[in-house]
Amino acid sequence: MSLTSPLFPCISSTFSNVTLFGASIIELEATQLTNTSLAYEYYPTFSGLDFCNVSLTYTHPGENDTLHVQVWLPSTTYTDRLQGIGGGSYAAGLNDVSFGGMALAVAEGYAALSLDAGLPSQDPVDLQPQDWALLSPGNVDLYALENLGSVSLSDATLLAKAFVESYYGQPPKFSYWNGCSQGGRQGLMLAQQYPHLYDGILAGSPAISWDEWAVGDYYPTFVMDQLKQYPYPCEVEAIRTAAINACDGLDGIVDGIITDPEACHFDPSTVVGGPVNCSDSDGPLTISDAAVKVVQAVWGGARDAHNESLWFGLNKDAVITGSSGLAETACANGTCSRSPPPLCNTWLQYFLAKDPSVDLATMTQSYYDELFKISVQQYTSIYGTDDPDLRPFRDSGGKMITYHGLADVLIPPNNTQRYYDAATAVDQSIQDYYRLFFSPGLGHCTGGLGGRPASAFDTLQTWVESGTAPDVLIGTSLPDSQGNVLERPLCLYPRKQVYKGSGNTSVPESFACE
Ligand SMILES: *[C@@H]1O[C@H](CO)[C@@H](O)[C@H](O)[C@H]1NC(C)=O
Ligand SMILES: *[C@@H]1O[C@H](CO)[C@@H](O)[C@H](O)[C@H]1NC(C)=O
Ligand SMILES: *[C@@H]1O[C@H](CO)[C@@H](O)[C@H](O)[C@H]1NC(C)=O
Ligand SMILES: *[C@@H]1O[C@H](CO)[C@@H](O)[C@H](O)[C@H]1NC(C)=O
Ligand SMILES: *[C@@H]1O[C@H](CO)[C@@H](O)[C@H](O)[C@H]1NC(C)=O
Ligand SMILES: *[C@@H]1O[C@H](CO)[C@@H](O)[C@H](O)[C@H]1NC(C)=O
Ligand SMILES: *[C@@H]1O[C@H](CO)[C@@H](O)[C@H](O)[C@H]1NC(C)=O
Ligand SMILES: *[C@@H]1O[C@H](CO)[C@@H](O)[C@H](O)[C@H]1NC(C)=O
Ligand SMILES: *[C@@H]1O[C@H](CO)[C@@H](O)[C@H](O)[C@H]1NC(C)=O
Repeated sequence: MSLTSPLFPCISSTFSNVTLFGASIIELEATQLTNTSLAYEYYPTFSGLDFCNVSLTYTHPGENDTLHVQVWLPSTTYTDRLQGIGGGSYAAGLNDVSFGGMALAVAEGYAALSLDAGLPSQDPVDLQPQDWALLSPGNVDLYALENLGSVSLSDATLLAKAFVESYYGQPPKFSYWNGCSQGGRQGLMLAQQYPHLYDGILAGSPAISWDEWAVGDYYPTFVMDQLKQYPYPCEVEAIRTAAINACDGLDGIVDGIITDPEACHFDPSTVVGGPVNCSDSDGPLTISDAAVKVVQAVWGGARDAHNESLWFGLNKDAVITGSSGLAETACANGTCSRSPPPLCNTWLQYFLAKDPSVDLATMTQSYYDELFKISVQQYTSIYGTDDPDLRPFRDSGGKMITYHGLADVLIPPNNTQRYYDAATAVDQSIQDYYRLFFSPGLGHCTGGLGGRPASAFDTLQTWVESGTAPDVLIGTSLPDSQGNVLERPLCLYPRKQVYKGSGNTSVPESFACE
């Protein structure tokens, strides 16, 4: 692997002639870091990093916005490649999660970029848009949403490429995007709207069709409000467990994973009145009818006043309780109350009702339907990220990989399937440049019992640089309580993972794709 050395020093004047059409640069700082150690949650500690930290603040004149970009340029390990690191939830990047990704990228020889899209709150734990969504009650800051949706992605990439050229004397040979969830949505937006910027895009568990899922995923809370009953999480969990018990073994292995959700026809109404083990001593002893209705709402997806489907359901092994769970409730002293998924709740309050004081608990079905329509009408083009025409990306030579957990707790895998099928309808040759892999048992980007395709990014790079397209990705699960991990093949859609019927169920060789 040949390394490219910087031609110019890491000082702001090296980068001072960089410009960007439509932007006005406010401040540029360049700081050399030498033999630096960096530590971020979820990542090993990095040491011995040498890079030039270029940090830029800019505005789009007239839009009253202030955006930040950081580009880390390796001083000793650069291999002529750029890697953009995606964000999560409402954050575009520039938080500890993306800094960890940048440090890893630098350690592996990439120039790395991350951006905040001009939004004040980038903390992935406190991920709410209340700081920026509204200019005033009733008025959404559409420029801010557009920055998050698309514009900042092009800005940051063009700036990063220019910084690379200023520092090393030549632009990157290969440019990659690496993201999951919001980062997956960003990746697909880049492929759809800026098809020339990246050679390779890894878009995991993409939060596309945001205008739809953010309302659709609220539906179970709406159903609870209609019933005026808020089931205990233990009841909901008992129903999920019953579904897993009924369907887990259909794939030939009892491991808690429903490999083929389509084959699982478990009917939750059969367990009404069944026993529940609640750790809360005030909890119920049997599964209530309301709990079954709520779980049916999660699995069946949102429906309108005419009982027509608005949005997909999650699969039956997806965890739907716990923080952000679609059927979560808050329980204390023998009663439970509403606890809507925060991402959905804020979408409805700030972007649809445009009024944070709106009382969503008293929402009628017709108001729910109206909010769904408003969301689609007002935000599909700016934030929906579901344009299925990827031919410009194809024509510029790009390659893209999406993986999606079948036990995703937030974005139904059916939505990614719908998008991929729509893109296939536009261009039958889609597999030449865009490949989709479902992972049985994987939650949202991580979590769950199934495997995360840890090498997907390297596989993408090989596809871009050597032309070898992947037919499988290997998914590696988190260790179970005994420290065992499962490694299984994630199959190229529409093929499905099938156990060969014998052999060690922890190793990929025991499975085929059919
Ligand atoms: C400025 O831009 C030119 C042309 O893009 C480039 O050759 C030069 O190295 C840049 N940097 C400086 C410090 O002039
Ligand atoms: C880098 O830092 C480590 C301690 O963090 C030190 O042991 C090592 O000697 C340093 N290397 C160089 C080349 O300065
Ligand atoms: C990079 O520079 C920015 C701006 O000065 C600073 O906030 C940030 O902490 C720096 N990052 C590192 C890893 O030093
Ligand atoms: C620009 O935004 C700032 C807050 O970021 C606000 O105080 C100011 O009023 C805004 N200016 C205009 C013209 O909207
Ligand atoms: C509840 O817990 C008891 C004791 O741990 C166990 O024997 C029983 O099978 C459990 N019941 C259910 C429905 O899980
Ligand atoms: C609504 O449609 C679903 C799916 O076809 C069906 O299972 C359900 O019974 C219908 N509900 C009503 C109230 O008709
Ligand atoms: C998801 O897709 C599968 C087939 O692709 C279908 O059988 C299932 O009904 C869909 N689920 C929902 C909730 O739309
Ligand atoms: C639950 O009961 C305890 C003891 O009576 C009380 O201190 C606490 O505030 C109650 N919690 C709620 C949420 O009502
Ligand atoms: C199955 O494979 C795993 C991973 O290689 C290994 O740790 C385990 O011992 C194997 N189990 C059996 C029964 O061979």
